[in-house]
Amino acid sequence: MVFSRELMDDVEEIFENDYGGHDFFHTLRVMRIAKYIAKIEGANTEIVELASLLHDVDDYKITGRNMDSVENACKLMNKYNIDKQVQLQVTDIIKTVSFKANDTEIPSSLEGKVVQDADRLDALGAIGIARAFAYGGSRGNMIYNPNSKPNLNMNSDEYVKNKTTTINHFYEKLLLLKDMMNTETGYNIAIKRDQFMRDFLEEFYREWNNI
Ligand code: ADP
Ligand code: NI
Repeated sequence: MVFSRELMDDVEEIFENDYGGHDFFHTLRVMRIAKYIAKIEGANTEIVELASLLHDVDDYKITGRNMDSVENACKLMNKYNIDKQVQLQVTDIIKTVSFKANDTEIPSSLEGKVVQDADRLDALGAIGIARAFAYGGSRGNMIYNPNSKPNLNMNSDEYVKNKTTTINHFYEKLLLLKDMMNTETGYNIAIKRDQFMRDFLEEFYREWNNI
């Protein structure tokens, strides 16, 4: 491992006050599944683990800075004397990993592709559903409004500013992720989680309509 327990503790502190689905356990889950995918896909596990650990420390929702900032990641990597070459690989991944609707990017390195898949997998399935409603609630969004339709054609700015119901978020992001997986290993895990969300939606509408 190219990083220490102290670095993990520092990262944990950044997410201390997040109740919108971005708590430190999200980072831990992404690290674990990313490492699993990396081993099967032949990616560098040290880069993948470090990039996973730092992938959300500069999230605009937490820092309030712009989307491309890697300030926190750089500060932390310098504090723990991470090799400069490794730092470049990691910041490159962090900048491109996030979902930005029509402006979504694919990381150029295999390690980045693995981290992106792992981050997306944590937005799917039972945990993905829980995170989506936690996030929606933290933003004061409604669970569902039959009169509000999803917007399937947004650029990154519109996506960030978009105030939507959480059910709409399934159509605007979550149900698109399976077919955006970069690796076969990620795709295979996504299939089950995607189906679980589709079953959830079906049951949701059934109950909504009182059947
Ligand atoms: P990630 O950590 O995967 O990059 P995001 O930062 O986009 O995810 O969002 C954190 C979590 O909140 C994810 O599970 C995501 O699906 C969910 N989320 C993001 N935007 C919304 C929204 N408008 N409504 C409901 N859930 C959302
Ligand atoms: Ni994330």
